Amino acid sequence: MSIDPRRAEYLRTIGIDLWVPRAGALGGGAAAAACESPPAPRPIRARAPGLAEDTEAWQRLRAEVRGCTRCALHQSRTQAVLGVGPERCDWMVVGEAPGAEEDRRGEPFVGRAGKLLDAMLRAIGLGRDANVYIANILKSRPPGNRDPRPEEVQACLPYLHRQIELVQPRLLLAVGRIAAQNLLGTDQSLGKLRGRVHRFGERNVPLVVTYHPAYLLRSPADKRQAWEDLKFARATLARSLTG
Ligand code: URA
Repeated sequence: MSIDPRRAEYLRTIGIDLWVPRAGALGGGAAAAACESPPAPRPIRARAPGLAEDTEAWQRLRAEVRGCTRCALHQSRTQAVLGVGPERCDWMVVGEAPGAEEDRRGEPFVGRAGKLLDAMLRAIGLGRDANVYIANILKSRPPGNRDPRPEEVQACLPYLHRQIELVQPRLLLAVGRIAAQNLLGTDQSLGKLRGRVHRFGERNVPLVVTYHPAYLLRSPADKRQAWEDLKFARATLARSLTG
């Protein structure tokens, strides 16, 4: 079995080593294999667009968030960062808050951590341009990238809930402790929250927790565990679609 070179590159970026046997080692003319080569993901598409009311709801939400003054962060931000991706799709990733680069460019996860997140998502066949919506708990950058304050989360969370209603994801991936704790309303540690399927909201959307990519940049040894989380999330979604 051969592995698509682009996919191999994404896997290398996220720290997954590929094992390539010598020619003939597998017999039967198999030229190459990878120890971490789950079947190449089926292309996952954005779902059919929503109704005209949804388009209007998105327009209203965008305008509201752009002009939001619900917390003090509006005074220091360059711009509010709502989210990116198809307006309706199966996968939704939730992070913490915009950083400096996101505040400047108006799009979530476009700095170094974002590049790693993109590579992780690409490795399971996902891209913000095609089939995954990406948002944050906070829409405005906390100065110096400090943790969000409770009153900021309280003010901002209704926007995320509205996004989730509109995107109608079939799987939520919370990246990092702040996203996981605030989505689930818990103070359990990331370690306790990883590795199981949680449920979000009235629609009981399956929610899987993994490390924040900024943490993985500081602790690359944990990339392998993050890869396990991604495969777990993919299997969870596949199960919920067939079951
Ligand atoms: N970290 C986040 O949690 N979100 C971003 O958008 C960027 C970095």
